[in-house]
Amino acid sequence: MTAFRSQMTAPFRTAAPFVIRAERASDVAARETLLDLCFGDNRHERTCQRLRDGRAPAAGLALTAVRSGVLVGTLRLWHVSAGGRDALMLGPLAVAPEARSLGVGAALMNAALMIAASRGHGAVVLLGDAPYYARFGFEAAKAAELELPGAFERARLLGLELVEGALDGAAGMIVATGAPERKVRRRKERRLPCAA
Ligand SMILES: CC(C)(COP(=O)(O)OP(=O)(O)OC[C@H]1O[C@@H](n2cnc3c(N)ncnc32)[C@H](O)[C@@H]1OP(=O)(O)O)[C@@H](O)C(=O)NCCC(=O)NCCS
Repeated sequence: MTAFRSQMTAPFRTAAPFVIRAERASDVAARETLLDLCFGDNRHERTCQRLRDGRAPAAGLALTAVRSGVLVGTLRLWHVSAGGRDALMLGPLAVAPEARSLGVGAALMNAALMIAASRGHGAVVLLGDAPYYARFGFEAAKAAELELPGAFERARLLGLELVEGALDGAAGMIVATGAPERKVRRRKERRLPCAA
């Protein structure tokens, strides 16, 4: 593939089309609200969050879905070492309840996997529902020897090779390897002279 176009409009069955584009700083509030809604207040306690704490997502792999001007989906991928193999950890993936079953989740997944492959990444792992992720090629067998830094259900740890053999011999702990998250600094507000 050549370069990923910054915006893709997916064709589908409803009146309001959606767009998949790179995440923007201005998406943060809406993305956090959507994640709270989908995963609950204790989402920061989840095992996979340990692989994201204080890290930046992989370059080009933080995506947003927008429908009628509203953020309706989010997906991010993170650099990890998967038992000694360079890989990406996928998640969270979330789609707003009112925009589900329109293909938004699939569009986010397909865009992310296409970008990951085009950037030379060899493998993706995730913790999620196999019945959903199997359609994108994820399987438990590819992650059978991997561990996470906390409690997890073995059947939900899935892997996908973008390059054949990229997960061969992957065994042991999945460890975060991404760059530290850059804090977005607010520009100092300019004070206007007080009006009398
Ligand atoms: C999972 C999720 C991202 C799917 O988003 P979406 O935009 O509705 O996905 P798509 O439109 O691409 O696919 C919808 C199909 O996937 C199916 N599906 C959704 N979640 C599923 C799951 N956990 N297991 C199996 N199938 C699932 C739907 O039934 C639907 O099937 P249909 O096409 O036969 O109607 C969305 O339901 C969501 O955000 N859920 C809450 C957060 C979550 O659980 N995220 C991680 C998933 S493990």
